[in-house]
Amino acid sequence: MNIKPLNVLGAEVSNVDLKALSGRNSVQEIQDAIDKYKVLFFRDQNLDGDELTNLAKEFGPPFVQPALSEKYQDLLVIETNSEKPPYLNTFHQDMTGLEEPPALFFLEGVIIPDSGGDTIWSCNETAYESLSTSMKEFLNTLNCKHSLLYYYEPIFSKWEHGQEKKLEFQKDFPPISHPLVRTHPHTGKKCLFVNKFFTESVEGLKEDESKALLSFLYGVIEKPEFCVRLKWESGTIAVWDNRCTSHYAVADYYPETRRLQRAAVAGEKVS
Ligand code: SIN
Repeated sequence: MNIKPLNVLGAEVSNVDLKALSGRNSVQEIQDAIDKYKVLFFRDQNLDGDELTNLAKEFGPPFVQPALSEKYQDLLVIETNSEKPPYLNTFHQDMTGLEEPPALFFLEGVIIPDSGGDTIWSCNETAYESLSTSMKEFLNTLNCKHSLLYYYEPIFSKWEHGQEKKLEFQKDFPPISHPLVRTHPHTGKKCLFVNKFFTESVEGLKEDESKALLSFLYGVIEKPEFCVRLKWESGTIAVWDNRCTSHYAVADYYPETRRLQRAAVAGEKVS
């Protein structure tokens, strides 16, 4: 297995066939590389959906995506096309409105537009490290309210019976409090743990203070210096740690079709 580091995060991994990982050693080697580089890119893998979910299961129990239409699914197909325009062009971490947000994602390109449709990841650890000691000390005292509904609410409002579904969803997934600065369970490194999709507010601050602080932190997380960008090909697999990175799907290919498939590994309580 060859590893070529890219930017402050991210590495291209070659000489590995993810269909045939030869036992625990190679899984551990890849896990160590994820801990070090946070995002890994593997070219020419061409796994089918079952192979992708089986691969993810080598790294931990599956995370099942609470979905709005079919209740649960462990392989998520992310497709955008002329009828469903791209919508993931906001930096975010996934599903942080849950008590145990997913840890790892395995995302594979299936149909890739001729041009555009890249994904960008940013390093929430480097973002935290770039701050002053006084700011870090202050942030370490804070918790944030995260909620799935914060992201899903506009979707319910477009549906017939959306209000009933929203109440049910609210009961199943109440808001949750997480520390604003998270410590990685493997490396012990700290990172900013806030995102535009699911972080509603900073607890204990006034609304305008909370908005200003979050907006400042998003500006830091989104600095190009803290990012790496992937140009997809069909068969490319990106693996990333959702605990300490944010990602953004560039929406520059409409009306072309872009299809990816994704499996995920369950995470732990945030601390
Ligand atoms: C995601 O936001 O999980 C998907 C990223 C992508 O479509 O590139």
